[in-house]
Amino acid sequence: MKIKVGVIFGGDSVEHEVSIITAVQAMQNLNKEKYEVIPIYIDKERNWYTGEELKKMETYKDMDLLKSTLPKVCLIKKENEFVLMRTKGIFNKVLETIDVALPIVHGKGVEDGSLAGYLDTLGIPYVGPSMLGASIGQDKVVQKQILQMEEIPVPRYVWFYESDYLAQKEEILAKINKLGYPVIVKPARLGSSIGINYVKKARDIEGALEEAFSYDEKVVVEETIENLLEVDCAVFGNHELMETSLIGEMMTKHDFLTFEDKYLQNNKKMSSKKLSGKTSTSGFKIPAKLDKRIENEIYEYSKKAFRALNLQGVTRFDFLVNAETKQVYLNEPNTIPGCLAFFFFTGKNISYEQLLDNIITLAIKDYKENKKKVSSFESNVLSTYNGSKGIKGKMM
Ligand SMILES: Nc1ncnc2c1ncn2[C@@H]1O[C@H](COP(=O)(O)OP(=O)(O)O)[C@@H](O)[C@H]1O
Ligand SMILES: [Mg+2]
Repeated sequence: MKIKVGVIFGGDSVEHEVSIITAVQAMQNLNKEKYEVIPIYIDKERNWYTGEELKKMETYKDMDLLKSTLPKVCLIKKENEFVLMRTKGIFNKVLETIDVALPIVHGKGVEDGSLAGYLDTLGIPYVGPSMLGASIGQDKVVQKQILQMEEIPVPRYVWFYESDYLAQKEEILAKINKLGYPVIVKPARLGSSIGINYVKKARDIEGALEEAFSYDEKVVVEETIENLLEVDCAVFGNHELMETSLIGEMMTKHDFLTFEDKYLQNNKKMSSKKLSGKTSTSGFKIPAKLDKRIENEIYEYSKKAFRALNLQGVTRFDFLVNAETKQVYLNEPNTIPGCLAFFFFTGKNISYEQLLDNIITLAIKDYKENKKKVSSFESNVLSTYNGSKGIKGKMM
């Protein structure tokens, strides 16, 4: 019997469209002998749909048609199965059963642990990082704090909440001064370079901070890594088995601006400079030409970070290298990367189909292992429950 894989994608995120592209591509590359592919699309209003048509890119060209013809569903547990239940009409009907979920979502609101948490609550096996790994992956401060504990180099940084800034502006500005200009200002829990600014001079810092606070009350300011070479390394596996990809050099610059212009029309003009970012789908030269020492460091940090940040599935790590001093810094993990970073593995003779097969197989194996762990114990707490007086003598 084939394994039924529910590919969940879309969602209320600025990377909605990128997620559709990644998911359609993944659905086309899943081994059809072994897997039956069930698309589960979440629109920007958070409605869930299923249907064969969702496997084709053309379907997304007319969203109104898609929404009027495809069944709206919800994913629930029914008896011992995970099912997609039609939500429209009086008769609820099970349309599909799912054995394992393959979340392919990008960005805040889905990739940040929200979807993983939902899947955990249902108890369905799923591919990719747990809620913990996914939410660490979204927070540029928490991930740096963990990486530092693991002695993985990160750019020097200062972080604070908007309320801290309002109460102690001078102290915070002095700390930023200490980092030394130019600095990079980032909302702590966004992605896609949104709200990120490169600030050359102290006189522009307040505007950049205000912009970052308009997206997130938590902000991080980092030293700028000069003579910048951006390289990426992907890892797939779990805390025990890890396979690194070849290292790629990011070639695409400035293309984020078009992405941002497209999705955020109220883009403010800043005297500081918008950072060039990248698309998550292309623009890498693989393999990157690097000194052996740098290459080894990147492999070592990638594996160490994969474990320390509680990741599973496939992650692409962004590194910043100062090409002059040769110092390597880990910038951030992308816990569900665009195209699932498959093209980083092809040079290692791992096809997209094999990559998908590996991460799904591992997710099912880990799910079975975890089920063997004790997660609750028999207790008769409720039998001694005593109404408004609570449970006598028991501290909860
Ligand atoms: N400390 C830094 N020094 C130099 N460039 C940086 C630094 N941090 C980020 N950048 C640049 O900004 C881009 C976006 O930053 P990143 O932290 O990766 O945000 P996002 O989550 O939006 O991808 C990076 O790809 C890199 O080009
Ligand atoms: Mg990035």
